[in-house]
Amino acid sequence: MTQSPVRVLLVEDDAVDRLVCRRALGAEAGCAFELAEADNAHDGLARARTSAPDLILLDYNLPDMDGVEFLSELAAGSGEITTPVIMLTGAQDVSIAVDAMRRGARDYLIKDGERGYLKLLPTVIQHVLKEERLRREKRRAESRYRNLARHQVSVREEERSRIARDVHDELGQTLTALQLEVSMLSARYQDDQPELGQKLCALLSLIESTMDSVRAIAADLRPPVLDLGLVPAIEWQVQEFRRRTGIACELAIDVDDIDLDEERATAVFRMLQEALTNVARHSRASQAEIVLTLQDGTLQLTIEDNGVGMQASRSPGKKSFGLVGLRERALMVGGEVDIDSKPGRTIVRIAVPLAKTAMGRAA
Ligand SMILES: Nc1ncnc2c1ncn2[C@@H]1O[C@H](COP(=O)(O)OP(=O)(O)OP(=O)(O)O)[C@@H](O)[C@H]1O
Ligand SMILES: [Mg+2]
Repeated sequence: MTQSPVRVLLVEDDAVDRLVCRRALGAEAGCAFELAEADNAHDGLARARTSAPDLILLDYNLPDMDGVEFLSELAAGSGEITTPVIMLTGAQDVSIAVDAMRRGARDYLIKDGERGYLKLLPTVIQHVLKEERLRREKRRAESRYRNLARHQVSVREEERSRIARDVHDELGQTLTALQLEVSMLSARYQDDQPELGQKLCALLSLIESTMDSVRAIAADLRPPVLDLGLVPAIEWQVQEFRRRTGIACELAIDVDDIDLDEERATAVFRMLQEALTNVARHSRASQAEIVLTLQDGTLQLTIEDNGVGMQASRSPGKKSFGLVGLRERALMVGGEVDIDSKPGRTIVRIAVPLAKTAMGRAA
């Protein structure tokens, strides 16, 4: 199979340097390069945009702009440099070249007086292209992973809702019918057969406590209060947390009305649940505080506790996915999570934009 040539754009104002570059790349056997040339930055940028080369060889000192300016022009629009750039600099410009690499160039070569760099040029180009392929592959894999995670989260939420509904409706209905039958029996036999009446009463209270359990299991899977909106759901969750753990937990909500779609509301709610579960399981805190605010179109939720901190609570070797999942959930809705922990205080800050971003599309 013949390989298609590597399309290189050389942006270089010195005609002699262009000529020697052309020769160096043309002389490489078994590895064909197709060279396009520009003798100034503006022409180079125009060619980069229209012909989308595989790689750009960029002279740092151009008549109309320097290499760093060229890089920022190249990144304009998408915000990133998608074509790999190798910077060609004079020996006196090494520190500038290193700076250019920080700003997005992938490698640099120093134009020495004897033009020894030309021998390295084909190898460096191949190396940079290989790295570029790996970088793209990694990105694709990350995007696949993110899509899969997003899919799994939404499947899990759907499943939870369905099971909650089934448990609540079907088991609930059966138990209600049972309750009715048993209370009728109880009313009928209470006077004539008190012993049976007593047994039926006990059965009734068993049915009632089973009904409570069914409601609790369904609410645990997906609290129905979530359908009323995020704020009531947070209030309910904090109340549950206080009741279950005995930890004093303050809740400050500084928003009246939040217009959040279901995906976001569920994501924020699940993140709160994970953070609170962690406080209950690991922090040994006596107090916690939850604050919900809205700043510049971003919902900010912080969960703070006065416990031992993450360093002290860590058990080595244990597989932990809660915080990883929490960060993933945030990313899926275009948000982010910041965790600050030291002995005596752990703060989990969650920020979720109200409006959908490219990253946070609905699944
Ligand atoms: N509020 C907290 N206070 C102290 N330590 C914490 C707190 N939150 C998390 N940690 C520490 O961080 C670790 C990682 O938390 P993470 O939620 O990722 O996993 P986990 O709770 O151990 O397990 P799971 O995967 O079931 O959530 C915990 O094991 C714990 O040591
Ligand atoms: Mg956890």
